Amino acid sequence: MTLDIVESLPAVLVPTVRTERLVLRGWTADDIPAYTRMATNPRMSRYTGSPSSEAAVWQMFALQIGHWALNGFGMWLAHDRVTGAFIGRVGLYREYGWPGLETAWTIRPQRWGEGLATEGGAAAIEYAFGTLRADRTISIIHPENAASIRVAVKLGMRFAEATERNGQPRHIYAISRSEWRPRGAEPR
Ligand SMILES: CC(C)(COP(=O)(O)OP(=O)(O)OC[C@H]1O[C@@H](n2cnc3c(N)ncnc32)[C@H](O)[C@@H]1OP(=O)(O)O)[C@@H](O)C(=O)NCCC(=O)NCCS
Repeated sequence: MTLDIVESLPAVLVPTVRTERLVLRGWTADDIPAYTRMATNPRMSRYTGSPSSEAAVWQMFALQIGHWALNGFGMWLAHDRVTGAFIGRVGLYREYGWPGLETAWTIRPQRWGEGLATEGGAAAIEYAFGTLRADRTISIIHPENAASIRVAVKLGMRFAEATERNGQPRHIYAISRSEWRPRGAEPR
């Protein structure tokens, strides 16, 4: 039998976004070991779930790629723009049943405190409002995760409501497009 194979673009096109210090790009199998080193650091799972093995990270990568395919947006891996070193993950997330379009950030502990979550989060919010033309984005944060709450507040988000996830408390922070003030730009 002769297969009629039609050439096509890859099903998942993840745009690369550059910020001042970060390159935000898509997910490859080569990134799994570095991601696993970050994810299995106990500091990562204090307030949120984190994959506990390379196998679990593989599944999470497949989920993130599938998320881009289904939604047309998603999370990026973040790398250092100068050195290429792995830094973390930032972007947009909305799985089935999610309470809104989430902007999320995770930075490997060795790079905490450099403003990188805020920088990546700003790029994700700008993508949500400027590229996707979303009306609102939220962040879902454990109420004791002071660093993450600080990132949300620095980005101009405000407390919206208390909720829970898997029996754990969560606070939703939110910002609307009219409230967003990207650095150096006029309000939309
Ligand atoms: C939350 C997280 C992404 C922050 O990353 P980061 O790159 O260090 O964040 P930034 O440097 O942009 O900003 C952190 C802010 O929190 C502040 N902060 C840090 N620890 C804090 C604490 N315990 N209490 C209060 N503020 C704190 C920092 O001083 C900084 O604020 P400032 O710029 O006003 O000084 C990072 O800690 C992380 O990945 N944690 C594990 C995963 C996680 O919790 N992700 C968020 C899920 S909602």
